[in-house]
Amino acid sequence: MDRLNILVTGGAGFIGSHLVDALVERGHRVRVLDALIPQVHGDGESHYLNSEAELVRADVCDREAVEAALEGVEVVYHKAAEVGVGQSMYEIERYVRGNDLGTAVLLEALIKRRGQIRKLVVASSMSIYGEGAYACTNCGVVNSNLRPAAQLLARRWEVECPHCGKQLSPVPTGEDKPLFPSSVYAITKQDQEQLCLVVGRAYDIPAVALRYFNVYGTRQALSNPYTGVCAIFSSRLLNDQRPVLFEDGEQTRDFVHVDDIVQANLLALETARADYQAINIGTGRPISIREIARLLAEGLGKQIEPEFVGKYREGDIRHCVADISRARALLGYEPQVTLEEGIPELLEWVRRQDANDRVRQATAELESRQLVR
Ligand code: UD1
Repeated sequence: MDRLNILVTGGAGFIGSHLVDALVERGHRVRVLDALIPQVHGDGESHYLNSEAELVRADVCDREAVEAALEGVEVVYHKAAEVGVGQSMYEIERYVRGNDLGTAVLLEALIKRRGQIRKLVVASSMSIYGEGAYACTNCGVVNSNLRPAAQLLARRWEVECPHCGKQLSPVPTGEDKPLFPSSVYAITKQDQEQLCLVVGRAYDIPAVALRYFNVYGTRQALSNPYTGVCAIFSSRLLNDQRPVLFEDGEQTRDFVHVDDIVQANLLALETARADYQAINIGTGRPISIREIARLLAEGLGKQIEPEFVGKYREGDIRHCVADISRARALLGYEPQVTLEEGIPELLEWVRRQDANDRVRQATAELESRQLVR
C-alpha cells in the first residue's frame, strides 16, 4: 500500500494511540487531532502518542483546527469521542456536543475536500443495539427491549420474552438487529455512525463504521471510572479494593483486544468491500463479568473476591455478543488475541501503573441520580 497521509481524531486515546502506532509502523504519515481532556489524560500530557505522529491539540468541534488538520490528508479515522456511558446520562450537552457536533464539523470539512479523501473510518459501538439478540424456545428470535424497571427492582436479571414471558437465551448479535440505544452515549454513537455513512455515500467519501464490542487492553484509562469494566476492576484490584459487581455478575459481554480493533481498522483501509457498511468487531465469545473479575484477580495474584451489591445500572443490558460473520466476509477479519493471552498482557501493564481509584465516587454520583439502584 502507498504511503498515505492519515488523520486520526482522538489519536492520543486508548484505541487511537494503538492505531497510530500501527499506521506509523506501516510507513504512513500520521497527524493526530486530540484535545487531551483531563478526565482521560490526567495531567494533559500525551503519554502514549507516537513520537513520529504530528499532534494538533484541539477540540474536534473547533472548525478552524479541523480544517487545518485536514490539509493534505487522504484518510481519516474518527476516534475522538466522549466515552462514559453512565456519565453521558447527566452530562448530556457535553456528550451531544463532542460526539454529534464534533462529527458534524468534521464532515462539513471533509465535504470541502471530498476529492482528496480515500477513506473515512468511524468508531461505532455495540451500545447502539441496546440488548443483544435473543431466542425464545416458544417464540423464536426475539428483539428484546431493555428489561422493565419492575423486573429489575424484583432482581430478576435475565431477559424475559415479551410475548410469552419465558426466560430468553442470548444468541450472536448481527448488524441487522434493530437498534435500540439505551444511553445518551449510545445515541450519539448511532448518530456518528449514520452521519458518516449517509454523508459519505452522498459525497463519494468511502465510509466504514466499525461497531466495537467491549474493548480492553493496555492504555485504557485506569483512573477514569467511566471506562470499561476491565480497566475499572484492574484499578480496584490494584488498590486492594474489591471489584463491585452489578446484578449477579452473570451478565455477558464480548471482550475484544485492542490489537484486534486495530487489525479491523487497517483492513477497512485496504479493501473497498466494506465501504458504506456498519460492521461488528468482536470475538463472538461470551464471557461473564464475574469471570472477568476472577481472571483479573487471579492474574494479579490477589485473593480478592468481588462484592455483590445486588444493584443494577440504569440502561445496562444483560447480554450482547457479536456475530462477526460480516467482518469475516467483508474485511477478512479474524480475531487473533484470546482473553487468555490478552489479560496477562493487560495486567503486566496494569502492575506498572499508579491507578487512582475513583470508582466509589463515580458510583455515588450515579446513585445520587438514581442511575444505580
Ligand atoms: C458500555 C457500552 C460500550 C462501551 C463501554 C465502555 C453499552 C451497551 N455499551 O458497555 O459501547 O464501549 O460501555 O464505555 O452501553 N460492571 C460491574 N461493575 C463495575 C462496572 C461494570 O459489574 O464496576 C458491569 C456492568 O453492569 C455491565 C458490565 O460490567 O453489566 C460491562 O460494563 P462496561 O464495561 O461499563 O461496559 P458495557 O456497559 O457493556
